[in-house]
Amino acid sequence: MRGLLVLSVLLGAVFGKEEFVGHQVLRISAADEAQVQKVKELEDLEHLQLDFWRGPAHPGSPIDVRVPFPSIQAVKIFLESNGISYDTMIEDVQSLLDEEQEQMFAFRSRARSTDTFNYTTYHTLEEIYDFLDLLVAENPHLVSKIQIGNTYEGRPIYVLKFSTGGSKRPAIWIDTGIHSREWVTQASGVWFAKKITQDYGQDAAFTAILDTLDIFLEIVTNPDGFAFTHSKDRMWRKTRSLTAGSLCVGVDPNRNWDAGFGLAGASSNPCSQTYRGKFANSEVEVKSIVDFVKDHGNIKAFISLHSYSQLLMYPYGYKTEPAPDQDELTLMAWEDQQGGLPLFSEKSRHRGSAFQGCCESPGLSLRNQLQVWQHHQGNLSSQWKQY
Ligand SMILES: *[C@@H]1O[C@H](CO)[C@@H](O)[C@H](O)[C@H]1NC(C)=O
Ligand SMILES: *[C@@H]1O[C@H](CO)[C@@H](O)[C@H](O)[C@H]1NC(C)=O
Ligand SMILES: [Zn+2]
Repeated sequence: MRGLLVLSVLLGAVFGKEEFVGHQVLRISAADEAQVQKVKELEDLEHLQLDFWRGPAHPGSPIDVRVPFPSIQAVKIFLESNGISYDTMIEDVQSLLDEEQEQMFAFRSRARSTDTFNYTTYHTLEEIYDFLDLLVAENPHLVSKIQIGNTYEGRPIYVLKFSTGGSKRPAIWIDTGIHSREWVTQASGVWFAKKITQDYGQDAAFTAILDTLDIFLEIVTNPDGFAFTHSKDRMWRKTRSLTAGSLCVGVDPNRNWDAGFGLAGASSNPCSQTYRGKFANSEVEVKSIVDFVKDHGNIKAFISLHSYSQLLMYPYGYKTEPAPDQDELTLMAWEDQQGGLPLFSEKSRHRGSAFQGCCESPGLSLRNQLQVWQHHQGNLSSQWKQY
């Protein structure tokens, strides 16, 4: 074990990658409100460098947190001395990441068509961008690629447009990977793209949708962050922009929308995973979407995918008041169980507004600010968020 540790530390040093050797993920069960509050105290201890994958919300709902090796003892002692129970869900984060890397490299080959593309392994930004071009080349009458901007570091930002004709038809927007480390979402986006081209003309319900609506799909919504998760730090979530006056890099793009900016669930600390940025739309990755959506003017529904937990959430995330179309949203949130929405066939743990779902604690993640912003844009009948 020690030999292995040394080896992977050495390898990490060679490749200059952030290492997670000995990091654990604890699943904490806060039994009552007092214990929830105690866990929130932990959250505020910046020096521990804790990374909450699922933050404290209600008593009884599990809290998952990645704890760096040097903080493990302190955290466990804190929990034990407060009588809070926990399990070690992941013993060593790095060993899982090593496995993931091996798998990626073992099956790495340049796909020559979207039929030979491997949908069950993870891909780099270059591979996904190549995939976009293949899909467009294979389906020129259905799929096109639109560049909506360039990232902070200068990478192109692409959206796929699926359209059977018409001009500025009502449209559905889907984005994946706004949080770069949520790799299963970009992978899902790639698969959706392929599936759309396969189902059109085959599946009657889906064909009817595409005959009246367009679909816009942004698969890599945070390209700089995504490239960084491959090259340096698998756990990178934010953009890569620099903040004057801080050594910490990046803004949480999903706290940067011009809706409830800076309210519950977003941090003003540039070192936080939920840093909202200096002002709304400060991130070019966000601004590019804003400009595109406003310019289009006829986007009716927004779906944003996140990973970790099974939640189906709609606005609002920063306040308790119901959205004006709350009843319709609630109805749709439950309809998916009857097979209404194939995207969400998996049973969701929570359906409801984002605020009820995760964010009753100010200081913890306003997950659906994007939807709220989009909601403000007009008559959007549904906004979904799974994160
Ligand atoms: C795709 O990758 C997975 C690993 O995630 C592997 O099991 C599978 O064999 C690969 N498929 C092909 C066709 O290479
Ligand atoms: C929203 O919908 C209402 C009723 O359907 C309509 O009167 C109104 O013009 C719409 N507003 C926008 C911005 O589309
Ligand atoms: Zn996310």
